Amino acid sequence: MDSRAAPPQSEPRRAFSAPYGQATDQFWMSGSSKPCDQRCRCVDAEPSIEGAKQMSQRRIIAAMQVSVDGLIEGPNGEVDWVGSWDDSFGLLSQIDTCVLGGGMYPGYEEYWLAILADPEGVLPLTGEVPTEDEIAYARFADQTPHFVLSSTLGEVRWKTTRVVREVEAIRRLKQEPGKDIYAVGGATFISSLMNLGLVDELRLTVRPIVLGRGKALFKDVNQRHPLALVRAEQREGEKVGLIYQHANAATSD
Ligand SMILES: NC(=O)c1ccc[n+]([C@@H]2O[C@H](COP(=O)([O-])OP(=O)(O)OC[C@H]3O[C@@H](n4cnc5c(N)ncnc54)[C@H](OP(=O)(O)O)[C@@H]3O)[C@@H](O)[C@H]2O)c1
Repeated sequence: MDSRAAPPQSEPRRAFSAPYGQATDQFWMSGSSKPCDQRCRCVDAEPSIEGAKQMSQRRIIAAMQVSVDGLIEGPNGEVDWVGSWDDSFGLLSQIDTCVLGGGMYPGYEEYWLAILADPEGVLPLTGEVPTEDEIAYARFADQTPHFVLSSTLGEVRWKTTRVVREVEAIRRLKQEPGKDIYAVGGATFISSLMNLGLVDELRLTVRPIVLGRGKALFKDVNQRHPLALVRAEQREGEKVGLIYQHANAATSD
């Protein structure tokens, strides 16, 4: 069953507030006497028409690997410092669509199609055999619609991929029913979505390295975006996982 199905009218819905409203020490379900078990902060609030519209939308979650200085790749496109890409795989149960920029798509297609073609083979890009999680992601991606934003990209090889020419197509996807949407990258694409207020959640895995030069994740973002920290955790390999919710995020049902 689709977990995004609308709840019954009487069911209380959560409204995002902190850290901008009067945050309390406990988290409460709006309209309920029960404490909320979610890690976001909630307030009693009647949603506005605009708020109700936001709440009925699926969310766009951008999950990226970043250096301590906020870069997503080195000056020559190096991503060897990332190691494995498995930090985003925890998302898979809650998404049913992937969106990405035309800049990264050719490399993405090549990488994951190579794993699908030979799950036990050594990958030319890394010189390693794929991990079990990577094989699982390749199979997931092979069944999951992908939308690539590009005005120049022509034919794509992957059957699940469709090229869209305007960023408004991504907004329309968000308004369709479904699970959440995974924004895979890269920096230009994520900046475009941020500028249009389309990113609801950021999941950053901070790797223990300063790259100094390279491509900044938010290089084209043109205004402030207040965020609320949902979770921060130290992970194996000296990584730090950070989950931020956008102040204007659509909330999940
Ligand atoms: N560290 C990480 O977690 C991570 C994750 C993913 C990717 N990456 C890296 O990111 C790099 C790619 O990033 P990138 O910033 O160069 O490229 P990108 O964001 O993947 O794609 C940029 C392209 O998307 C299209 N686009 C973006 N915004 C648009 C808009 N508003 N309207 C129309 N088209 C738009 C344009 O394509 P057209 O020019 O065709 O119109 C633009 O050139 C790759 O090298 C990859 O290794 C890193």
